[in-house]
Amino acid sequence: MSIPRLPRKKLKNLCTILLCSSSLVLMMTEVLAHPVLQPGKLISYTRNPNGVAIKTEHAQVELTVFSPGVIRVRMDKKNLGSDFSYAVTGQASKTDFQLTELDDKLILQTSALQLLIQKQTFSLRFETPDGVLINQDEPGLSNSWIGDEVSSYKTLQDGERFIGLGEKTGNLDRRGSAYTNWNTDAFRYTGETDPLYASIPFYIGIHHGMNYGIFFDNSYQTDFNFGASNRRFSSFSAQGGELNYYFIFQPRVADILRAYTDLTGRMPLPPLWSLGYQQNRWSYYPESEVMRIAQTLREKKIPADGITLDIHYMDGYRVFSWDKQAFPDPKAMTARLAKLGFKTTVIVDPGIKIDAGYATYTRGLQQDAFLRYADGTHYAGEVWPGWVVFPDFTRAATRSWWQAEVASYAKQGVAGIWNDMNEISTWGQKMPNNILFDYDGQLTTHKQGRNVYALEMARSSHEGMKQASGERPFILSRSGYAGLQRYAAIWTGDNTADEEHMLLGVRLLNSLGLSGMPFTGMDIGGFTGTPTAGLYARWMQIGAFTPYFRNHAASDSRSSEPWTYGEDVLNISRNYINLRYRLMPYLYSSFHQAASSGLPVMRSLAIDYTHDAQVYSRHYQNQYMFGDAFLIAPFTSNKEFGRLYLPEGEWYDLYSDKREPGKQAKTLELRLDRLPVYVKAGSIIPMQSQVQSTAEQPEDSLFIHVYNGTQSNSASYYEDDGHSYAYQNGDFYQRQMRFVPERREIQFEASQGKHASKFRKLEILLHGFNDVRSIAFNGKTIDLETLRLGFFGQEDRELNVSKFTIPNSAGKITLNY
Ligand code: NOJ
Repeated sequence: MSIPRLPRKKLKNLCTILLCSSSLVLMMTEVLAHPVLQPGKLISYTRNPNGVAIKTEHAQVELTVFSPGVIRVRMDKKNLGSDFSYAVTGQASKTDFQLTELDDKLILQTSALQLLIQKQTFSLRFETPDGVLINQDEPGLSNSWIGDEVSSYKTLQDGERFIGLGEKTGNLDRRGSAYTNWNTDAFRYTGETDPLYASIPFYIGIHHGMNYGIFFDNSYQTDFNFGASNRRFSSFSAQGGELNYYFIFQPRVADILRAYTDLTGRMPLPPLWSLGYQQNRWSYYPESEVMRIAQTLREKKIPADGITLDIHYMDGYRVFSWDKQAFPDPKAMTARLAKLGFKTTVIVDPGIKIDAGYATYTRGLQQDAFLRYADGTHYAGEVWPGWVVFPDFTRAATRSWWQAEVASYAKQGVAGIWNDMNEISTWGQKMPNNILFDYDGQLTTHKQGRNVYALEMARSSHEGMKQASGERPFILSRSGYAGLQRYAAIWTGDNTADEEHMLLGVRLLNSLGLSGMPFTGMDIGGFTGTPTAGLYARWMQIGAFTPYFRNHAASDSRSSEPWTYGEDVLNISRNYINLRYRLMPYLYSSFHQAASSGLPVMRSLAIDYTHDAQVYSRHYQNQYMFGDAFLIAPFTSNKEFGRLYLPEGEWYDLYSDKREPGKQAKTLELRLDRLPVYVKAGSIIPMQSQVQSTAEQPEDSLFIHVYNGTQSNSASYYEDDGHSYAYQNGDFYQRQMRFVPERREIQFEASQGKHASKFRKLEILLHGFNDVRSIAFNGKTIDLETLRLGFFGQEDRELNVSKFTIPNSAGKITLNY
């Protein structure tokens, strides 16, 4: 058959038609290939020692049993890439599980849960071993991709609550809200601002008396929806990368936190001094001003352990340098401060000034330490020093270079590093996405690198200080990602001197505690703006019951030291700082508990009273436990009355020892000089004599306060040298103490560890034991003294505290009624 020859123009038209129709066909196929891609049908599966690998029509899936209650889900529409995480350090443990195939599903069973894997339209359903639904992919929506964005949709359960997700504004119960994780310099954030500085894509779901955790380990921008603008699902999505999450099912929230920190690591024991009061300002300089502040704290008998230097200590904001005029001899200054019992912390930003005469910059260039664009040129952004380059902390060689730079501070006697502006913050705020990050050998862009930048900076600072000093370092970071607890404490950035902001700060710290971060703080007094005297006083009281206790203020605000608000505020501040120092043995033991179990020091009531609906009410959601014993009710300073909720159990008013039944709400008349604090019945609280800093040796009596109750209770007392790593080789002192009301006994077990306690004697103080007639220690009757002194040393005729002294050794106190 011959093809008729067409004139040139006609041929061109025909071609155009053909081309158009073929693109039409192409477009049609694209429309037919659904814009929302789901995994589709299960095609094949292979059981392996730790789980099961699955191929579906459109996805690769890997399910790994980490432990009976922890299952990891990995899914990608392409092949699963190399397995790499900055957050996860825990390994899957060898766990028994069964895999059964039925017509329509596979069932993976462990001793703690079962996972149903639907074959026809691939989806997951987590159940208890006896078939009660814990969490399931929402039928019809399950998991899907829109372009590179990957999402998992979970059926919203009746009454389901959501807590955690790290540094997020809003209510304790996040139901009805949506959040984004994209580390952001959120200067002057409000109660609604999102995102803030740090990303911890881990939350806990609660319904029908159960609780589970989901940790979505993906460092791209992630978005969480807890039933916001929909009533069908909760969901989590990432702008790229794999669907990679850990499903954690445990009986109690505390167990979920233990499992989550088995995965992402725990806070190492911090140096004792970092638990003391820290005085801060943007900026104390020159040296004479730093010394004036330190001396005034001592003269006015305000205990303190730390002075922090903000950006003005540097030469033109060049990190690792000193302004030689203002600080001619930094080493001599830190030594003078140390003599007064102060440790020095300095701020360190990541931006390195582009300046050929600046040694850190030129050494960085030699080490190829800085972030580059895709075309190989350096990325330059603008921050305090002007135009700067930024170290690529996701590159091993850069981290080593940084460690060597940080070592210079340790040599000058600096004990703490404060990593600021590490979101990364540039004046332009929005950084270009075409910046490359090494990502430890898996080259990627800003899109995946940003959220882990601060984590890796904290790691570098931590390791640098540790190597250089051989001591436990203190690192404070503004930004971070899951796992930051392994390297640093975090504070909640640039807050505002406002009553509601103070309460928002409490919720932020409570939420961080629910997300694996036990060492947290906020700028006491507010960073921007001027607090009223009342607000300042109340904030100091609350600050004394937060893990990192630091007063800080912006450069354009008034002086904010405790003595600058008049005598009353000074007395209130001093009373609570004093109390914190007397509570140091309790606090250090609580930090040790956090370091070994992942249970935070500052605990939302949702941890211990998870299924009590009152805990989530707007009235009571800010209340928290500080360690095992204290319930703190933070009220704004401008209120005369406040509503308080006491959960189940019995509670003592800290100041009057008045005993109250739990499971009740009550109205309190508020006083500015008293932060409402309650002690849980049965508590055993170790305290020490008053000191001005942790460098000062307390008297040789450890005061043990025991609060009568009907339930037995135990507490662990922990002590070590407070600064070195010797405790890791057994150089610690730990003792279990038990109150057993049914046996009428207080028991002290033999101590463990080879450290000698600094306390020779135990002074026991009994609260609420008015009916006790006599007391015996190891069978021998001992004399009782009655104290009528309150916690601030005030005489109170209503108080009736029995006191007696025993040696600091194992033994048994018998209470004779
Ligand atoms: C921002 C930090 O959030 C703030 O605490 C600090 O004082 C300023 N940068 C100046 O360094």
